[in-house]
This record gives sequence, C-alpha cells and structure tokens, in this order.
Amino acid sequence: MTLTIVGSQLGDEGKGALVDRWGGDADVVVRYQGGDNAGHTVVEGGVEYKLSLVPSGAVRGTTGILGNGCVVNPKTLFTEIDDLRERGLDPDVRVARRAHVILPYHRVLDGIEEEVKADDDAGDEVGTTGRGIGPTYEDKAGRRGIRIADLLDSDVLREKLEYVVPQKRALVEDVYGLDLQGDDRAEAFDVDALHEEFAAIGERLADEGMTVNCSDYLHRRREAGDEILFEGAQGTHIDIDHGNYPFVTSSNPTAGAASVGSGLGVTAVGDGEVVGIVKAYLSRVGEGPLPTELDGDADEEALADDIREKGGEFGTVTGRPRRIGWLDLPMLRHAARVSGFTGVAVNHVDVLAGLDELKVCTGYELDGETFDTVPTTTERWERCEPVFETLDTWEPFDSAAVAEDGYDALPEAARDYLEFVADEIDTPIYAVGVGPDREETVELTNPFDE
Ligand code: GDP
Ligand code: IMO
Ligand code: MG
Repeated sequence: MTLTIVGSQLGDEGKGALVDRWGGDADVVVRYQGGDNAGHTVVEGGVEYKLSLVPSGAVRGTTGILGNGCVVNPKTLFTEIDDLRERGLDPDVRVARRAHVILPYHRVLDGIEEEVKADDDAGDEVGTTGRGIGPTYEDKAGRRGIRIADLLDSDVLREKLEYVVPQKRALVEDVYGLDLQGDDRAEAFDVDALHEEFAAIGERLADEGMTVNCSDYLHRRREAGDEILFEGAQGTHIDIDHGNYPFVTSSNPTAGAASVGSGLGVTAVGDGEVVGIVKAYLSRVGEGPLPTELDGDADEEALADDIREKGGEFGTVTGRPRRIGWLDLPMLRHAARVSGFTGVAVNHVDVLAGLDELKVCTGYELDGETFDTVPTTTERWERCEPVFETLDTWEPFDSAAVAEDGYDALPEAARDYLEFVADEIDTPIYAVGVGPDREETVELTNPFDE
C-alpha cells in the first residue's frame, strides 16, 4: 500500500512529524518534489531533527528516496547525512538518477532575481528560500538541466556545463548588468571549478551506491510487498499549478505529483491513502496574500505574536518569522479536492488553547458576492474579505496525557472545532497534533491499517 502525505496550506503544517509518526509502518519514504527549500521537523523523545533533504523516515531507519521530481543540492544532502551520522543515525538515502541537480549558479540567480524584483517596488518578490529551486526547475523545463546521472560521467558533465554555464554568465552580466569580475559569486560561473567539484560529488554518489532508477526501484520494492510513504514538501497553496501563483514554489506539492515525481503509477498512489496535513491556524513564510492574516490592528498583532511564540513559528530553513492567520476553510476545500484527501491530520491544536477568541473563515466576500472557494488569481484573492464564524475556545491541557488517553480526552471545544472542520471539508480526521513530539499525537486512524 502507499500513503501520501501532503501539505494542505502554505507549508510547515507539521508534515515531518506525521511522516515520522507513520514512518514506523513504512519500508521506504519518498520525497517526490522540491528540494532543500523544505524544512521538516521530527521530535523523538525531546530530541529534535530538522531535515531539508533527507526524508523524514530517517529517524526510524527507513530507506529514504529523493525521487526524479526533486531538485537536489548534493552538498546540502551530504552535509545533512554527515550531521545525522554524527548524531548516531545511519541514514540510507538513495537519489533518482533522473532528479535534477541544483548548481551554485542556480542559487546565485535565485538571489539576483529576488533582488531585482525587490528593487522595482512592484511588490512582486516571492520571498524565496534562496536555495535555487526556481532556477533549477526552469532549466529542467528548458531542457538544459544537469541531472544526477550526468554527475556520474565526467565527459557528459563537462559537455553540459560548457553548454549551459556561458548562458548563465550572459544572463547575469548582460541581462542583470552585474560585473562578475572580482565578485565572490564568479566561481559559480566557472566551468572548470564546477566540473571539478561536481565530478567529485558524482564519485561519492557512485562510491556510496546512492543512485537509483527510481521507478524501477520502487516498483520492485512494491512487488516485494513493501509499504511506501510519499513525503510531500511545501503545501497546496504554494503549488505552481494549484497555488497562489506567482507567490508559489516551482514544483507540485499536491498528491498527483507523487506519481510523476517517483515513477510509481497513478494507480499505486490512488489505491492508497492520501492524508492532508493541516495546521489548526495558518502560517505563511514569504510574500503573497493571506486573507485571514492577524495584522489588522495592535490587538491582532499581539495575538499573532502570542501564537508565533507558542507555536515556534519561525522558518526552519531561513529562521524568518512566519505570518499568522485564522484557519481558512476555502483553502482546505481546495486542497482536499486537488489531492483527493482520504483523511486529514490537524496539528497545533495545543497552540490554540487559552485564547480569548477563536475564529474560522468559512467563505469570502468579494464585490458583493459570497463564495466558498479560493479565487484563481492572486489579484482577486487579496481583495477577498473573509467571512468568519466564531467558535468556543478551550483551556490549556496536558498534551502527553491527552495523547495517551485518546481523542475523548481532548477538551470538548477542541473536539467541536475539529469536527466542524472535518464536516466542512467532508474528510475524516486521522490524527490530531497536540505537541511536536512523536508521542504528542492523538491517533484516530493509522492509514497503514486502512
Ligand atoms: P513541515 O515543514 O510541514 O514538516 O513543518 P515544520 O517542521 O517546518 O514546522 C512545524 C513545526 O511545528 C515544527 O517545529 C514541529 O516540531 C512543530 N509541530 C508539529 N506538530 C505540532 C503540534 O501538533 N503542536 C505543536 N505545538 N508543534 C507541532
Ligand atoms: P516545507 O516543506 C513553507 C515558500 C518560500 C516562498 C515560496 C517560494 O518545510 O513545508 P522557493 O524557495 O521554494 O522558490 O520559495 O515558497 N516555501 C515554503 N514555505 N514551507 C516550505 O517547505 C517552503 N518551501 C518554500 O518561503 O514564499
Ligand atoms: Mg517546514
């Protein structure tokens, strides 16, 4: 069977925690898109791991795969693997030979494009993580990308670098007007330096037997009866097709990409479970609209600060404070439809405890009309006025005790909140997060038992 974990909102919903929770029943955990823009947190017995590329099954010793749909910065990957080894884990990570490689010039170009957009005062910068994600997917679509398999053949690597690097240099110098002479970014555009560094990376990947034909590998594991867990990164509303374009990442976090980004057929993914991970409120790191954002007046800002502190809402990758808003049901309806959720896990229910007031957005008003779905354009979405329903609040509770005693031990108002959400999106709740630790989850259904 397969289980696909998908972010329902804007990333950072606690996907890593649920991948770790259910990863104990999986044999292989597969990332199918994105790269080291992800920051997934796993907490086991108070010990915290922050993972950008190594799939979150690693803490349980499950084999991790970076599928063909990922963009891989091999330097980040090796650093992460080495750090985990120092901490006593032995991650078994394989990388699809069809996955694309993030090269140093992709990171430089990501930074330059953001700077240019910021300088023109049009407010169109995305607030990317600066990891080179967009430029790498651009090269993939432009058929000038360098793939993991290319690192394994020194001659092929040189040929590809000799084709692409002068184009990148020209882009920086002639289009963006930067002089790379004497700039510390110049090495990112030096074919010989890149060749030497990335051929050596190819040798390490080969020596450690880390590369796979992902489709073939997963097919065999499945035939052998192994359970496969797909670990989505980012979230539905920053999906390049289904999200809030252009304030999106450059891949498809939604469930359909689990098949495309791994080479395991849609029937295998569709036969399995697809669980949307939901944060009980909203957080957004980076630019773009957020209709329910708590930023209207000083009281709202104080409430956002309180939630941000309690929920530790600071970017895992960049450390940026996350913007905070009330839960938005039109966003969840869209996410449930696009990915075909069979269940949801609602995290951070502990963070909402002890509030004076609790609101949920049930729909939007725009130009005198009311509707319950997210508009397709950013321009319309940012003009939407949320329609709120106010629900009862609950008092702080003992998370460990509630996790142990089960769902009925949650405060009644928290259960009402959860049931209201499940009803509105017509999807059952499989799990409730009441704290960051693996044990601080109230499990109603283990998808691997379905
Ligand atoms: P991901 O990117 O979706 O894996 O999420 P992140 O790891 O970036 O951010 C989620 C943060 O919330 C991490 O610090 C988690 O340890 C933490 N977390 C996850 N679930 C819960 C929960 O139910 N309650 C609380 N308080 N924290 C949680
Ligand atoms: P996880 O997997 C939250 C956001 C960035 C920016 C936009 C584009 O931890 O949930 P990019 O660097 O991808 O080109 O940036 O997407 N973003 C995330 N926000 N969680 C993430 O990952 C994100 N990955 C990218 O902040 O707004
Ligand atoms: Mg994250």
